[in-house]
Amino acid sequence: MLGLLTCLLILGFASQCLCVRWNDVAGTYISYNVMDNGARGDGISDDSKAFLSAWQKVCATEGRATLVIPPRKIFMVTNLFLDGPCKAIRRSSMIRISFVNALIVDGGGIIDGYGSTWWNLPQSPRPVMLSFHACNNLLVRDLMFTNSPGAHITVDGSINAVFSHVNIQAPANSPNTDGFDIANSRNILIEDSNIGTGDDCIAINGGTAKINATRLVCGPGHGISIGSLGRNRGHETVEEIYVQNCSFIGTTNGARIKTVEGGSGYARKIYFEQIQLVGVYNPIIIDQHYGPRQPKEDSAVKVSDARYLGFTGTSASDLAINIDCSSFGCSNILLDQINIAPSQAGKKIGTTCKNARGATVGNAIIPSVSCL
Ligand SMILES: *[C@@H]1O[C@H](CO)[C@@H](O)[C@H](O)[C@H]1NC(C)=O
Ligand SMILES: *[C@@H]1O[C@H](CO)[C@@H](O)[C@H](O)[C@H]1NC(C)=O
Repeated sequence: MLGLLTCLLILGFASQCLCVRWNDVAGTYISYNVMDNGARGDGISDDSKAFLSAWQKVCATEGRATLVIPPRKIFMVTNLFLDGPCKAIRRSSMIRISFVNALIVDGGGIIDGYGSTWWNLPQSPRPVMLSFHACNNLLVRDLMFTNSPGAHITVDGSINAVFSHVNIQAPANSPNTDGFDIANSRNILIEDSNIGTGDDCIAINGGTAKINATRLVCGPGHGISIGSLGRNRGHETVEEIYVQNCSFIGTTNGARIKTVEGGSGYARKIYFEQIQLVGVYNPIIIDQHYGPRQPKEDSAVKVSDARYLGFTGTSASDLAINIDCSSFGCSNILLDQINIAPSQAGKKIGTTCKNARGATVGNAIIPSVSCL
């Protein structure tokens, strides 16, 4: 079920090792090094056969196994089919890259997760297609990812990453196929990419700061989401998020912040700027009552300093702006240059606004928002 990796990849890196792990269970691994299987790593020779041979050994291993791609070399691979099913325990990621600094994944090509067989199995833990864990100074560019069983790309514990021209596509009804899932990371830029999946284009989770999403086209999918934060009474923080010059096309949400009752921490300095909307169900939404309700709402993740500037386009629902803050309130919510029309001419659209303090700036906000 691993699916297929068909692409031309140039891997250049300068740190300990690039380990493609079949699973992420901690402990000892049997490992197979591509160099022991005939790879040259000189940037000229075709190393595809060596990768395949090492992969077949990894795949035939019962239990845990690691494919080791050593440092300070450049491997040329093409038409690399890393096929399953494998004997190893299947968990969490198809490809996991961890503790690698200054990795460049330079594409051309498609990574296809062949996830459709998983999507009908709601109970099974569907793997992420590609996860980066503790990779600093990462650059991923010019690659297409499609049909992941679960989320397509996850980033956690990483500082300084750029994803440029990384297109992601999965059907609108494929479950939990987030484009990007980011947690515990900072200085991450995703730019000039198209993302259309069955879940969030980008989910920005706790422990993040300075995440930029620039010049993206998002849709179909659930939009760009901060959260959900504060699940299971957790303490989570998100700050300095810039979503700029992005389009949302037919998504269920555009700019979304969602927190769960009973959590703590904050989501602050969140900037959504120059946003185009085409038939979006919830163009602007702050939902502080996401997921399970507490018997008594005794704490909340604090939402403050959110700015929505330059939204134009259409709403597919009659609620274009839905600001639903906890009883503790949101503060400094700014709306500036918002002009949203109904996607069906003649329909009325409106807004709701609860427990929010802030302001509307500049020209008229359409549709108008009462509580700011
Ligand atoms: C993110 O956007 C902000 C505001 O435009 C900018 O100051 C910052 O340099 C950007 N960061 C990256 C990594 O592009
Ligand atoms: C966003 O678009 C505006 C207008 O086209 C442009 O001036 C600005 O530089 C763009 N910003 C980014 C971060 O791409």
